[in-house]
Parts: sequence; C-alpha cells; structure tokens
Amino acid sequence: MCGIVGVTGKENAVDILLNGLGRLEYRGYDSAGIYVNDQNGKEYLVKEKGRIADLKKEITPDVHGTTGIGHTRWATHGVPSKENAHPHVSADGRYYLVHNGVIGNFAQLKKEYLEDVTFVSDTDTEVIVQLIAKFARKGLSTKEAFKKTLTLIDDSSSYSFLLVDHEEPDTLYVAKNKSPLLIGVGDGFNVVCSDAIAMLDQTHDFVELVDGEIVVVKPESVTIENMEGNQINRKPFHVDTDASEAEKGAYPYYMLKEIDEQPGVMRNLIEHYIAEDGSIKIDEELLKRLNQAQRLYIVAAGTSYHAGLVGKELFERLTNIPTEVHVASEFAYNPPLLAEHPFFIFLTQSGETADSRQVLSQVNEWGYPSLTITNVANSTLSREATYTLLLYAGPEIAVASTKAYTGQIALEAILAKAMGKLKNIDKAENFNVAKELTFVANGMQALVDGKSEIKEIAEDVLATTRNAFYIGRSIDYDIAQEAALKLKEVSYVQTEGFASGELKHGTIALIEKDTPVIAIITDEKTAKHTRSNTQEVLARGARVIYIASRQLAVAGDQIILPEVHPLLTPLLAIIPCQLLAYYTSLQRGYDVDKPRNLAKSVTVE
Ligand code: AGP
Repeated sequence: MCGIVGVTGKENAVDILLNGLGRLEYRGYDSAGIYVNDQNGKEYLVKEKGRIADLKKEITPDVHGTTGIGHTRWATHGVPSKENAHPHVSADGRYYLVHNGVIGNFAQLKKEYLEDVTFVSDTDTEVIVQLIAKFARKGLSTKEAFKKTLTLIDDSSSYSFLLVDHEEPDTLYVAKNKSPLLIGVGDGFNVVCSDAIAMLDQTHDFVELVDGEIVVVKPESVTIENMEGNQINRKPFHVDTDASEAEKGAYPYYMLKEIDEQPGVMRNLIEHYIAEDGSIKIDEELLKRLNQAQRLYIVAAGTSYHAGLVGKELFERLTNIPTEVHVASEFAYNPPLLAEHPFFIFLTQSGETADSRQVLSQVNEWGYPSLTITNVANSTLSREATYTLLLYAGPEIAVASTKAYTGQIALEAILAKAMGKLKNIDKAENFNVAKELTFVANGMQALVDGKSEIKEIAEDVLATTRNAFYIGRSIDYDIAQEAALKLKEVSYVQTEGFASGELKHGTIALIEKDTPVIAIITDEKTAKHTRSNTQEVLARGARVIYIASRQLAVAGDQIILPEVHPLLTPLLAIIPCQLLAYYTSLQRGYDVDKPRNLAKSVTVE
C-alpha cells in the first residue's frame, strides 16, 4: 500500500509531486522516487531509501519538468532500497512506471516472457514495465502494449499503475484494479493520486476510476476507456476537505492532534445525524432493511474491528438483533454459516482496506445488503456497498487510528438508537444519544486537558518495559484489545489485550516483577472480578495501573474517568490508553505518526 502521484501540464511538477508524496507518506514510507521530464528531451529519475525528506536531499536544483510521476513505498517484494524504490525503468530506458499493489503472478510472467531481460530490482513491479517495453519493441503502441500486459496479470493481483513513455513526454497512462486511484481535473493540467488529499492544493474535482479501465491523461484531456476500447464519460466529484485540515498545525505529531480532536468529532456527529427535536437523520429505508435482518455481521480489520466489538454490544442491547463481529481477512476465506437474512456492516476509516473489500465483493456476489461506515467519501468500500454513513471526523493522517475508532463507536450508537426506536424497543427509546454523546464530548475534553498526568504514568511504568498487558471483562475486554493495539503499533511494546478472567488459565505465567498490567474497569457487573484478577497479578510482582469510571473507582486508582452511559464508556476509557501509547512512543524517540513496518491504508491482502 504505497502512495502514487502524477502530474502533466504544470511548470513546477517536481514541487507538486513532492508535496503530494508528503501527504501520502502515511501510506508507506520506506523508500521513494520521482521521474520528471520537461517535454524538451530533458528527463530526471531520482530515488532514495527512506522518507520523502531523504528523497528531497537527492534532488538537485536542475531537476525540473512539466510532467512526472512519484511514489512512496511500503515494501511488499524486495527490501527497502534505492534499487527497489519506484519509479522502475524498462531496460531500454523508454518506460517509467510506479505501482501500488501486488502482482500475484509476477514470477511466472518473468519466467515466461523476460528470461532475456536483465533486472535491477527484486520487485514485482519491474516485471510489468519490462513486459510493456517488450511488447512495444514488438510493434505495439504504448496503449496496446500496456493493455496486453494488463491482460496477463492474474485476478489475485491488485494494482494502480502510472506509466510514462518518454517518446510521449506529456502523457500519463493509468490503470487500476482493486487499488484506489483518482484523476484530479485542472485547467490546462491534470493530476493523478492514490488519495485526493495529495492534490487538494491543485484541485478539488476528482474523477473516480473503476477496476479494468485504462486512462490516457494529457494536460488538456482525460480519456477513459474499458478494455474493449469503448470510451467512458464520467463526471468529476467535488471534495470539500480543505488542504489545511490535513496540516499538523502547532502539534508535534498528527496522533496527538487527532486525539485532541475527538470531543469535536462527537459534536460533529451529533450535528450531522441528530436533529434539534432529537430525531435521527438516517435514511429510513436503511433502518428498515437493518431491522429486517435476522443477524448483523460486522466485518473489519485492526482498530475498526475493535470498534465493531463495541458495536456488537450496542446493536444487541438497543435493537435485540444478534450481531457477529468478524476479522475481514479471516471471513474472506473462511466465512461462517450465515443466517438466511443477513445484513453486513463494514467499518473502515480509509474505505480502502483490501481485506474488507474482498469480503464486500463476496457479499455483493451473494446479493446481501451492506452498509459501509467510513471516514472517506467516495472510497471503494463506500462506492461498492449498498449504503454508506460517513464519520465526518476530518482527515486521519497518523497511522495509529484514534478519532476514527471513537467516531465509529459513536456512529454505531446513533444507528442502533435509530433502529431500536423504529422497533419501539424501550432501551432504545430511553437512550437519549444526543445528550449522552454530549456528556462523552465533555468527558473527553477533561481527559485530554489532563494529559500531563498520563505522560507521567507512561514515563514511570512503560518507559523501558518489553511487554505489558491490558485487562478487562465484557465491554472492558473490548477496550483492552484496542488499547493493546495502540501501545504495540506506536511503541513496539509486546502488549496483549486480555480477558482478565482468562489470565489464570495460562498467560499469567508471563507475569514477573514489574510487568505493567493496566486494568480497565468501567463495567459495573464485572468490576469486582477484574479487581480480584489484579490481585492475582500483583501477587506475582506486576505493576498495576487502574483506569476506572468514577462510580467504580477506589482509592489509589490512577486514572478516573468521568461518568457516562455504560454503553459508551469505551469512548472515554480509550483516551488515556491512546495517550499512554503516544507518550511511550515519544519517550522512546520513535516517529509516532509513522511507526516502523506499518501503513495507514492497507490496500493489499
Ligand atoms: C490502526 O491504528 C491501524 N492503522 C490499523 O489496524 C487499521 O485500523 C486497519 O488497517 C483498518 O483500517 P481501516 O479502518 O482503514 O479499514
């Protein structure tokens, strides 16, 4: 899941490419490169291992152009290196290619067609540019050579490609399958990007591409064709987001900015989905179809999956509809026995996660209804689902998801309330979601304002540890799993989110002197059981930190949460956990926003 950009028809192509790559760096940041030409025979290829900042150091003042392509990488084939960085060049020096995705049958294509070609990288992508060049040398036009190559790529593959033929220096050849890609439409110029955010300072009008299309982009034109050669006309959509929303402002890291934005995300959701009179502004047809379901299936990955775990509690309590939560990559190839009338809910911040999209394609084939809850309008999982509900959380740039997690849970609460109310379920009737989310927003504000206390705990308890545990029961166990993921992904501490009652059945063997154990206690019916489980680890030398709701707190508890509705406690309890992860990473000198080995939007399976 890399980030790719392209531009044609602009004097400052180099700056546009570098700015765009800078905004896409959350998608992969182990190596990068650009290719530009000035349409008068001058062309430049610059690649470097590491960040865009490292690439910039390699770009000398003479490097300029009006057309170019760029790439920031998350390695799938071949280690992060200058040789494996994109753009890749054909052996005859004619073609330059950047790619986001994975070519499943690259080894077989290399063996079958390219045994006479000398490769300079270990990547799957180089096979594609060498193939295009081979077919062009056989007399095919660039477009036909590109098309022929695409027909040889197997169905398991995902790709978005940007190709430049230096014999047509003002032209970008574009194609996609499964990986996201947009064309940004300008006046006298056009751009291409994996995510609109990369080009918001150039245009706000974007054309979405559909799998299997090939596009020829010139400064004055964008021509979309299907593989049969039929031209397709498609209107651009307008992106309201302002480029500045994607800026860090005075914050040292996006993660801290996005943690602080969560009270605003709650208020935004209330504003978008709840009318003055308390009625909920969600399409009644969607609510009716959801309520007709015998069973709800929530499908997601990573943090979104954890938001689904809390969603299960909300849907079952407020709608009485049995709800299952599934890890997308498992469901994709090992689906459970389904109810006769299922309804699928996809939770995805980016709207582009390949594992979730794989399931949605299956669900569409089965002909079942689906809803995507996402933070990105016009994203693939939004376009391909029956219904979409947006989070309105603003761009989430830090790889570690924070405000999207709380946004997803809050929107699940609003949706469950609306469904339950339509079914005249008392619990839903009595659940004043606008009032309760307002209390949550105020509680969040108090917690982020008190972040310095969390900083001290992180530096005292987590600064040097190799491992740690978050424990809890029922809804607190759901929170513990997300809290553990946050600490793992930004501070590299081996952390488990564990059902506290399960510890004594084996895992407690890992507890030794000073092992950090963070107990989450917001659920009244299990609070005393979790506390007795903490006694068991204390007896074996653990250092226990208690995160407890005010009404369940006891003397000595380190982190007290303001009181909110029992179904919404995850929205508060996760805040100190996000901050503990942030300060532990900061204290260890890591890049909090771009943790090693990760990427924000995982567009390969
Ligand atoms: C969370 O912090 C991670 N970035 C990751 O687990 C993420 O939640 C997962 O990849 C799912 O992404 P999505 O919500 O965009 O589908």
